[in-house]
Amino acid sequence: MSRLAGKKALITGSARGIGKAFAQRYLAEGAQVAIADIDFDAAKSTATELGTGAFAVQMDVTQQDSIDSAVNEAVNSMGAIDILINNAALFTAAPIVDINRSDYEDVFAVNFAGSLFTLQAVARHMIERGRGGKIINMASQAGRRGEALVAVYCATKAAIISLTQSAGMNLIEHGINVNAISPGVVEGEHWEGVDAYFAKLENLQPGEKKKQVGDGVPFGRMGTAQDLTGMAVYLASSESDYVVAQTFNVDGGQWMS
Ligand SMILES: NC(=O)c1ccc[n+]([C@@H]2O[C@H](COP(=O)([O-])OP(=O)(O)OC[C@H]3O[C@@H](n4cnc5c(N)ncnc54)[C@H](O)[C@@H]3O)[C@@H](O)[C@H]2O)c1
Repeated sequence: MSRLAGKKALITGSARGIGKAFAQRYLAEGAQVAIADIDFDAAKSTATELGTGAFAVQMDVTQQDSIDSAVNEAVNSMGAIDILINNAALFTAAPIVDINRSDYEDVFAVNFAGSLFTLQAVARHMIERGRGGKIINMASQAGRRGEALVAVYCATKAAIISLTQSAGMNLIEHGINVNAISPGVVEGEHWEGVDAYFAKLENLQPGEKKKQVGDGVPFGRMGTAQDLTGMAVYLASSESDYVVAQTFNVDGGQWMS
């Protein structure tokens, strides 16, 4: 298959996890991919592992100069950016009375401001180039409703859904589609961290929260990063040209349950 033949993609936080799976699938569909991550060593080894068409870019989405230099480097190396996935994010959890300001600032800086200002930098490039583009933000079922112990992370993802609506409506006049993917619960390192948080906060055994959550998904199991790649290809391809400002649940039915 080559539904993204000749396309050039920048994916933030793609050294591991869901971003890495997106990069792998985009390469298989004929795209070139900039593996942009704050963990440059991991980005380099992922790019080497994924092979032809992948290259590593140092990027910290909380720093404007790093956003600008990563976008420039991707444009210089690939000739353009047709597709951006705003995927980098941090997770945090705490009861309301224990939330601390520095944690709040760190998580908003990556999940929301990082996505907004990366989207802005790439949109400026796409407008200047005059050939449109595709921007995909990573939301979450956590952005659809609050959760008792996850106020800050949930709020960042609700903000991503709102940003997707505003940016989607603002940028479509330039032929830039902005949409989002809202996963449910996805296996991987991220969920190992979430499970550890809940083990501490709810006094559970390691692995117990993960099992409870997986059992509660109507599909019958947690998602995998591969479960999300079909939507990521669709939203990056010309098949979604008339799709604007939407957030799509890819969650095994979890949001409906
Ligand atoms: N895993 C899940 O269950 C799940 C569920 C819903 C939504 N999501 C969303 O999907 C996306 C990917 O999640 P994941 O599970 O693969 O996460 P992950 O923690 O495995 O990977 C995140 C990547 O982002 C990078 N990163 C962190 N801070 C950065 C910064 N300042 N600049 C650049 N890169 C930075 C990390 O180095 C890491 O490689 C996130 O937006 C997450 O919120 C995940």
